[in-house]
Amino acid sequence: MSLPNPPKPYTQRSGSLSLPSKFQVPSFATSNTPLAMKSIPSASSTSLEDNYNLTSSAFTSEFMVTLKDDPQPVFGHENAKKFLKESVIIPLLYPSMPSWKGVLLFGPAGVGKSSLIKSVVSSVNQKYKERIKVHLFECSASGIVNKYRGESEKILKRVFSAAREVKPPQGSPSELLNVSIIFIDELDSIFSSTAHDESSSRLRVELLKHIDGVEAVSAAGNNRVIVVGATNRPWDLGDALVRRFEKRCYIALPGEEDRRAIIDYHLGGVRVGEGVDREDVVKRTEGLSGADLKVLCREASMGPLRRFLVGVSPKDFTKADLAEITPDVLGEVEREDFERAVSSTRRTVGDVKRLEMFDADFGSR
Ligand SMILES: Nc1ncnc2c1ncn2[C@@H]1O[C@H](COP(=O)(O)OP(=O)(O)O)[C@@H](O)[C@H]1O
Ligand SMILES: [Mg+2]
Repeated sequence: MSLPNPPKPYTQRSGSLSLPSKFQVPSFATSNTPLAMKSIPSASSTSLEDNYNLTSSAFTSEFMVTLKDDPQPVFGHENAKKFLKESVIIPLLYPSMPSWKGVLLFGPAGVGKSSLIKSVVSSVNQKYKERIKVHLFECSASGIVNKYRGESEKILKRVFSAAREVKPPQGSPSELLNVSIIFIDELDSIFSSTAHDESSSRLRVELLKHIDGVEAVSAAGNNRVIVVGATNRPWDLGDALVRRFEKRCYIALPGEEDRRAIIDYHLGGVRVGEGVDREDVVKRTEGLSGADLKVLCREASMGPLRRFLVGVSPKDFTKADLAEITPDVLGEVEREDFERAVSSTRRTVGDVKRLEMFDADFGSR
């Protein structure tokens, strides 16, 4: 079994990797950072710390995600939630049993891949407060390729070693299981197998090496480390990398039930008129991603304000007037607002057929 070949050569997405060098300034606005960082150091200098005046704790906080206690809910994707939870919980229940060391989330843009990991980590930390502490480290193209030009391999190495060594907060129970998840977002834009320049292939090899080393790490008594990757273009990653992820989860477009939940959630604080047929909206939004639905709800919610402003100009209002324009004054979101929103919301998803084919060949059940 081999991966299908991509139809066209890989091209960098959204220009995020090709900023002019003058914009590629490291930004460490932490208390540990001296303000005077005048120039971008070259890759040939001695060490990361020297190059960026970077202390270990500044480095760790740069890549570590601080989670809210109540992250936005992510509806659906039960399979992926199950595998992600298993990857951290199995070692707690069966310490000698190896758990998943890599989980790949693949699917169209805007379906909740990046949000999912945060919501799972946050819920595990809350539910098993006394027994597990999951630390989340996040690397994305902008974090490891842009900011630290020429230093990406060292950065990756440092993220893995920070993940192995991070300690639970002081005062935590001594038997707490300490787990780190390294979440690599937009994997394809960093590790495409069709990008032929030398530095990106070195970075690929480095990542493969780290994923392979993950088991040895937990055997040696350090934190358990799990690598979670997300991508819209899994076929660009190449066989070797895809196979390092033992669980590969297709994060699909939301079905009817999940669309209903997402729409209800995003209309939470909005007054919706009786004439609005939510079921009809749910039916007519097939093929939209969660992110598209969020935009659609926002667009529809603008209706009352638009009606209110017909014939008046915002400059006719004083600040005090504006403060009084509350949802009560504006009125309800009407059927026509949804009509307009449904017809004007653009689908941002592509390649769904191809993702389904990839899922049929490589997806975990
Ligand atoms: N299944 C879902 N449930 C709830 N919200 C969702 C869902 N899918 C997408 N969203 C919304 O869309 C936004 C973008 O999702 P994101 O996680 O960035 O998608 P991706 O990483 O797949 O591109 C999120 O902030 C969230 O509000
Ligand atoms: Mg994302």
